[in-house]
Amino acid sequence: MAVLKEPIVDLQKVSVTFQSGGKSLHAVDKVNLQINKGDIYGIIGYSGAGKSTLVRTINLLQRPTEGKVIV
Ligand SMILES: Nc1ncnc2c1ncn2[C@@H]1O[C@H](COP(=O)(O)OP(=O)(O)OP(=O)(O)O)[C@@H](O)[C@H]1O
Ligand SMILES: [Mg+2]
Repeated sequence: MAVLKEPIVDLQKVSVTFQSGGKSLHAVDKVNLQINKGDIYGIIGYSGAGKSTLVRTINLLQRPTEGKVIV
């Protein structure tokens, strides 16, 4: 039986920029991600790549500087 795709998380061009010491740090840069119900994702990357910041935008512990988060 085919499982219908039901998006439960939708990130649209999500960016997070931190300002520190007069410099801009682009921790998350225009990320598009659709997660369907029942899907399981892992997030991998180097230390400092922006994994935690990206995940924190999903529950809005971190407000994106730009883009849209739909849950
Ligand atoms: N609140 C903050 N203010 C300024 N810079 C931040 C802040 N949070 C994260 N950063 C910077 O943003 C970048 C991404 O950090 P993040 O913690 O998302 O990386 P990570 O992939 O989760 O790293 P790790 O594998 O070490 O957990 C890093 O350069 C970090 O120093
Ligand atoms: Mg982390």
